[in-house]
Amino acid sequence: MIQVSRKEMVEIQVRINGKVYQERVEPRKLLSDFLREDCGLTGTHVGCEHGVCGACTVLVNGSAVRSCLMFAVQAAGTEIMTVEGLANDQPHPLQEVFNECHALQCGFCTPGILMSSVEFLNSNSDPTTDKIKEMLSGHLCRCTGYKGIIEAIEKVANRQKDGEKVDGSGDTV
Ligand code: FES
Ligand code: FES
Repeated sequence: MIQVSRKEMVEIQVRINGKVYQERVEPRKLLSDFLREDCGLTGTHVGCEHGVCGACTVLVNGSAVRSCLMFAVQAAGTEIMTVEGLANDQPHPLQEVFNECHALQCGFCTPGILMSSVEFLNSNSDPTTDKIKEMLSGHLCRCTGYKGIIEAIEKVANRQKDGEKVDGSGDTV
């Protein structure tokens, strides 16, 4: 007798970087895999798949979330921002200063750090270096030694203090 295995699929709708995606997914599919495989948003990197490295961080309803620790079905109805949503016509201020400060080498950790930094700067208008280090403690970088990364985030924090908007919308005012 032939057994036909039928995968249960669930339809979800989610808004990512301002665009609505309606897809059928397996309930066990991770949000990180959904973003990369179903939506083609490969800027979200996958390192450990255990919530340790931070490479897969995206914003879900404005909060930094490790997309390898969340199922795609749990994201149904949410608003997600990935690294692809950061730049508008211009690079996002964080992307500019990461470049200026040589805050990346291979770039594997960078999308996750950028997304956490957006959330962090939204809720910390004048962060201390220790606060920045604390936020970065959830992100593993194999290349840069963190000095340039900290410097870059400090620079944007200072620009924000001077009135620049760093909200992840790609807008600068
Ligand atoms: S891939 Fe998600 S935290 Fe490492
Ligand atoms: S720049 Fe290579 S892992 Fe961070």
